[in-house]
Formats: sequence, structure tokens, C-alpha cells
Amino acid sequence: MVDTRARQSRHPVSVIVVAAGSGTRLGAGVPKAFAEVAGEPMLTRALRAITGMRGEVRTVVVVPTQLLQTAADIALRAGLDRDSVAVVEGGATRQASVAAGLSAVDPASDVVLVHDAARALTPAVVFDRVVAEVRASGAGVVPALPVIDTIKRVDSGGSVLGQVDRSQLAAAQTPQGFPLMPLIEAYSTVDGEHTDDASLFAAAGRPVRTVQGDALAFKITTPADLARAERVVAGNGEERMPELPRTGVGIDVHAYDEAAPLWLGALHWPGEVGLAGHSDGDAISHAICDALLSAASLGDLGSVFGTSDPALVGAHGDVFIGRTIALLADAGFRVGNVAVQVVARHPRVGSRREELQARLGALVGAPVSVSATTSDGLGFTGRGEGVTAVATALIVRVPAVPAVPG
Ligand code: CTP
Ligand code: MG
Repeated sequence: MVDTRARQSRHPVSVIVVAAGSGTRLGAGVPKAFAEVAGEPMLTRALRAITGMRGEVRTVVVVPTQLLQTAADIALRAGLDRDSVAVVEGGATRQASVAAGLSAVDPASDVVLVHDAARALTPAVVFDRVVAEVRASGAGVVPALPVIDTIKRVDSGGSVLGQVDRSQLAAAQTPQGFPLMPLIEAYSTVDGEHTDDASLFAAAGRPVRTVQGDALAFKITTPADLARAERVVAGNGEERMPELPRTGVGIDVHAYDEAAPLWLGALHWPGEVGLAGHSDGDAISHAICDALLSAASLGDLGSVFGTSDPALVGAHGDVFIGRTIALLADAGFRVGNVAVQVVARHPRVGSRREELQARLGALVGAPVSVSATTSDGLGFTGRGEGVTAVATALIVRVPAVPAVPG
């Protein structure tokens, strides 16, 4: 087992991200690293992993010449520090691009990683694992996965010549890591094209080891790979973060009116002192409406219903709550619950709590809890001048139901 707790090093790690390829096989119409996976360029995703690495890291991004500025902007958006990033122009082959990147690496680094932007979903932990093993072993290090398929040797005509011993095979991924100076030396001495940096390093006579790779480090090469990456991202919930529930608050105050009947919580209270107001002064119902409108960001009772609608003159709480719920439904919301507290000397809300909760719950279409308190003789409620109601509401957006065809 490799110890992934990166050994303390006074040296930064340099990461070269090669992103200068044209992406012929993907055919996205843009250089591959700039093609989007679920709304975000591969390069952004690849660079974001680097922000998750331990220790001090410097990054060299290698891109086509016309995308130098775009890449610099992407690096900032991915969360990399401006001072820690260099963006350089790539070459005609991957190897030439890595060489260009190497020339821009911070010489104070002890370890350099070379990573394909096309392996856009590689987790940060793989980078850390490779760095730790380079520091522990001094060798070149390749993240690798065992080969699962049975491998056949075939000739150009498609005939099977034999079977390859799978136990000796491993599929190499990136980031591949190296001690910096030996890699620079290998690049300056080795001839010929190599498909990855580890084989070039080995051609220079240097040892190469493997560490555990990661299924997420697969290379996006073809449209099918891109579709796989999009499925992975969607499955992680990264793109479809569920919307959180929303809360709202509402307060209403009405003064007592000896001459009026009492309507509170959409109930009539015979024999109790009533409340003054444009409607029936039902502070509980009004506070509930305001909390619901507030949660949905739909304004407040005054701005939504006004005082000019003749249908609302003397209207009871059930009318206001009904209209409010209809507005929320139109806006795509469903109510989770409502809580309301009354501050008043009278009526004794607790004496009809069950009835209130049942009535209001039926109107709202969700649980409504009702509580009450006095204000210890303080303020207008304490002096018995009127009633205050405070309500909170929790609402959720109802998932859109796809239209049924035909
Ligand atoms: N790469 C590079 N410079 C090149 C060629 C490739 O920096 N001249 C980079 C690619 O951007 C990619 C990685 O090397 O991140 C692996 O290469 P590959 O998957 O082959 O990408 P492309 O060369 O872009 O794709 P294709 O071969 O389909 O054109
Ligand atoms: Mg290529």
C-alpha cells in the first residue's frame, strides 16, 4: 500500500496539463480539452482536480496558440491561483507539447506530474497518490488499472495468433509522475515518439512503478467516451443539485375593535372581542399568507391583493389563504409546513388549538402548527391593545412533470 499522506516536502509539485491536441476522434469542432462535459470544458474539470491536491502545486497548461488567453481564464475559473499557473503553447505531437510544458516548469519543484486534460474526471486523490510514490521511490510512477478483458494477439487479417497473459498487463493512465531533473534529462536525450511519458522515461533507462489508478481517470477520446463522462457527472449529482426547500416569514398585527366579531385563524370566535382591519383583521391568516408569499418570493399580502379588490372587502382568512396557495401552485411550489405563533392577551388560542390546526391545515394543504404566548405585560399586546401573529412557511418546488405526448 502506498502512503497517500503526502510526505512533507519543501518543494512544490509541478503539474503539466497537456491540452493542445485537436481532438480529431471526438470531432467536437473545438480542440478537445475545450469541448464541454455537461456544460463545462474538460480543461476546467481537469484543472479543478488540481485545486484539491495536498501541498504547494504549480501548474503549466499546454494549449493551442489561439487559446492561450481562454486557458488562462479557465484556470482562474477552476480555482487555481493566478501566480501558480503558466499557460504555454503546445506542439504538433503530445510529446512535443509535454516538452513545451517542461520548459515552463518551476525548477524548484522536486516532482513533476504530466496529465492529459482529456482525463477530465480524474480525482485529486490520484494526483496525491502518484506524488507520494515518486517521493518515496524516486522512480517514474504510473497510475494503472488491471486489464479485465482477455487480450488476443491478432494479425492484420483478423486471425488470432495467441493469447496474452493478462496477469502481466496493466492499463496506464495519467497523471504520471517523475522526479523533475531525470524527466528533463530523459526528454533531452531520448529519440523517437513515445505514447506516454513513462515509456520515454523507461527508454532513458529509468525505473517506472505503478500505483492504483481510478476508473474515473478514463480518457475521453470518442463521442461515446464523452457520453460516458456526462453520465458520470449526472450520476454524481454535480450538475443536478436538488433545489433546497425555501422558508418564508410573515408578521401581522391588528388592533382590537369592541364592535367587531372576532375572526382568527379562519374561525369565528363568538363572544370574543374582534379585530379591526380592511378585511376581518384575521392576523393569523394574514401572517400565514405573508410567510407563504415570502417563501416563494412573490411579494406580500398588500402588494399581491391590494385594498381595492371589492371581492376582498370583509373577506375571511380562508379566501386569502386559498388565493395565496393558488399563486404558489402557479409558481410551481408546494407547501411543506407552516408554523404560526400568536402574541395576545386574548382570545385563549390554546383552547381551540386542535380546531385551528385542522382548519388551517385543510386550507393550506399541509401541516399547520399553532402556538401562543403573551408578552409579559409589555408592549401593545401586553397592554391588551391588539394581536400579533408570526408565521414561518417551508415550501418546495414541485418537479416539473414531463408533458405526455398525444
Ligand atoms: N495533446 C497535446 N498536444 C498534442 C496532442 C495531444 O497536448 N499535439 C494532449 C491532448 O490535448 C490530450 C492528451 O494530449 O489532453 C491526450 O491526447 P489525445 O487523447 O490523443 O487527444 P487529441 O490528440 O486531442 O485527440 P485526437 O488524437 O483524437 O486528435
Ligand atoms: Mg492524439
